[in-house]
Amino acid sequence: MLQGKNILITAGPTREAIDPVRYISNHSSGKMGYAISDVCLQQGANVTLVSGPVCISLSHENLTLVQVQSANEMYLACCRYFEEADIVVFAAAVADYRPAIIAQQKIKKSDEEFFIRMVKNIDIAYEFGQIKQPHQLSVGFALETNNELQHAVGKLEKKNFDMVVLNSMNDAQAGFGFDTNKISIIRKDQTRVEFDLKPKSEVAIDIVNESARLYQAKANFVRSLV
Ligand code: PMT
Repeated sequence: MLQGKNILITAGPTREAIDPVRYISNHSSGKMGYAISDVCLQQGANVTLVSGPVCISLSHENLTLVQVQSANEMYLACCRYFEEADIVVFAAAVADYRPAIIAQQKIKKSDEEFFIRMVKNIDIAYEFGQIKQPHQLSVGFALETNNELQHAVGKLEKKNFDMVVLNSMNDAQAGFGFDTNKISIIRKDQTRVEFDLKPKSEVAIDIVNESARLYQAKANFVRSLV
């Protein structure tokens, strides 16, 4: 169903520099985003994968891999591909904040306490939600530790996603780093499907199949208007 479609996918963590040798980041391995990219490629799509620093390699003639470090770099890379994307999947764990100042030299140990002033990063998914065209489909993720459903629905609405994939830090073997994940998919109309714990390669098939189905439904609707 995805033959010839352009899919933009973010994956992995971002790294927000503190000084030339230190950064703030998170535990994302990139496995989920890369698994989704792989399934899209197997289904004949052209995939642009904007990836934070990970230890996974993926190659395919229809893959454009853009490697980035920070949230700002990830945003700028995505901006180049938003317009031509049919489906955008935001699987990356993007840092919400970055140090206000990046020290030019390695910060030396001195006082007992050390404070870093942080400023907000741009929300890539939110920005795309503002400019999304009627035929474009956006898929978000929500990684939660509490009030999972409520927070996921909040993100679905705020970021104008067509569906959100909820994974919880409370489920064993799910979320960051594992080869498995346990997800729920919540659609824009707030209908919900829950899936069992599975290898990320199989979770990716569930996500891609649902994305393709919703994309097709959207395309049919847009066509019926003209
Ligand atoms: O990489 P793995 O180890 O395989 O782990 C997979 C995963 C847990 C990272 C993945 O399944 C996942 O849940 N990714 C999103 C994690 C996250 O940062 O969620 P969030 O609730 O903070 O963000 C909500 C959504 O907005 C996400 O789609 C995120 O990509 C996007 N976002 C967030 C902040 C920001 N500045 N820009 C964004 O685009």
